Parts: sequence; C-alpha cells; structure tokens
Amino acid sequence: MHRKSFWWGLAVGAFVTCLFGQLGLSSGSKALDPPRGIPPEMVAEYLHAIIQADRAVYTTEVVERMQMRGVVSAAENWRESGRLPLPAQFLIEASRLVAEQRNGLRFRLISNWAINKRNSPTTEFEKAGLTAIQANSDRPYTGFTTEGGTRYFQALYADKAVSQSCIGCHNAHPDSPKKDFKLQGVMGGLLLMIPLAS
Ligand code: HEC
Repeated sequence: MHRKSFWWGLAVGAFVTCLFGQLGLSSGSKALDPPRGIPPEMVAEYLHAIIQADRAVYTTEVVERMQMRGVVSAAENWRESGRLPLPAQFLIEASRLVAEQRNGLRFRLISNWAINKRNSPTTEFEKAGLTAIQANSDRPYTGFTTEGGTRYFQALYADKAVSQSCIGCHNAHPDSPKKDFKLQGVMGGLLLMIPLAS
C-alpha cells in the first residue's frame, strides 16, 4: 500500500514539475518574443488622440486665453501680422514638419466646403470618406492604398464644429462655400496616412 502511494506521489510530482517547467518556459519565451506589430487601426487611434488633444490645448490655452486677456489674437495672415496661427493653420504647420521627417506619416484636414481649396478632397477614398463620415461621424472611414510604391493605411475622422467659434468664422469667411454650418455638425475630416512596413 505504502509502496503504491510512493509511486503515485512520484508520478504526480514529475507531472507537476513538467507542467510548471513548461509554463515557465513558455512565459519566458513570450517575454523574449514580443507581439510583432500594433494593428494600423490602433496606431491611427493613438495618433488621432494626440493630434486632437494638441489642437484643443492650443485653441483653449493659447488662442482663446491670449485673446481674452487682450495679449494677441489669431489671424489667417498670422505670419505677416505677427499674430497667432488659427488652430487649423497650427495643425497644417505641424503636419508640414512631420512630412519633412520622411518617415512617411502624413495628416491633413480636408472638406467638401474648404475655405482653402488645397484642403478639398483629391482621391476617390477622400471623396467617399467625406460622404461616409457625414452619415456616421462616430467611426473613422478606413482603407488601404499604394502610393509611390509605399502601402498606406488611411483613416478619415470626422471634424466637428465643437464650438460656436468654428461655425462663426467659417460661415462668415468670404472664401467659405458653405454659410450654414451648425454646432456639432461635420465640417470636414482629419485624414491620417500611415505607411505600412513592406
Ligand atoms: C477665426 C477663423 C476660424 C476658426 C475659429 C476656425 N477655423 Fe477652420 N479654418 C479657417 C481657415 C482660414 C481655414 C483654412 C486654413 C488653410 O488651409 O489655409 C480653415 C480650415 C479648416 C478646415 C479644412 C477645410 C477648409 O475649410 O479649408 C476644417 C475641416 C476646419 N477648418 C474646421 C474647423 C473647426 C472644426 C473649427 C473649430 C474647432 C474651426 N475650423 C475653427 C478658419 C477658422
């Protein structure tokens, strides 16, 4: 009887040792072998969050604050007039700097009712995307494209009139083809182009 339980004990012990050994090994190899990549949808979400946060901080903590205190206001001809860039121009300047880094990442604001015609949609994806986010502004319109031999993941996020100043300025601007933007309405989109490793 005692002999039997001795052999049972040995077998169970060996099995448990093997099992924990395996677990230890596999978790060890997992640590050495990290996941191979973040899905492009997630990368787009991260970048979109940063760009929007920077734009919001610039708008409320710089433009609106300086204007309220009578220090300096924002103006379209900010460079010549020594004033502050408009939030849209701040984003455009930032995207220009990013494009200079030549890592392939690109972003820009586009609209079917652009004040600056350079911000009008140019590709089929951009045209279809603007229609899609107009109907459903909660989700980005996404897709893949190849340009100059590089494959990109594209995501177009709705750009909404979050404050009265958005619609006030756009509706009154002489170059704006649309004069009846409404609060919370979709004014255009933020396009992200993320290069994919080949
Ligand atoms: C004081 C005026 C002003 C305010 C306020 C303003 N914009 Fe604009 N916006 C402009 C101008 C001017 C441009 C064109 C910039 C350029 O590309 O030279 C522009 C560009 C844009 C574009 C790109 C398409 C286009 O019209 O050229 C979008 C989208 C946009 N703005 C959305 C917004 C949103 C959303 C807000 C509020 C959060 C906002 N704007 C606030 C003046 C303004």
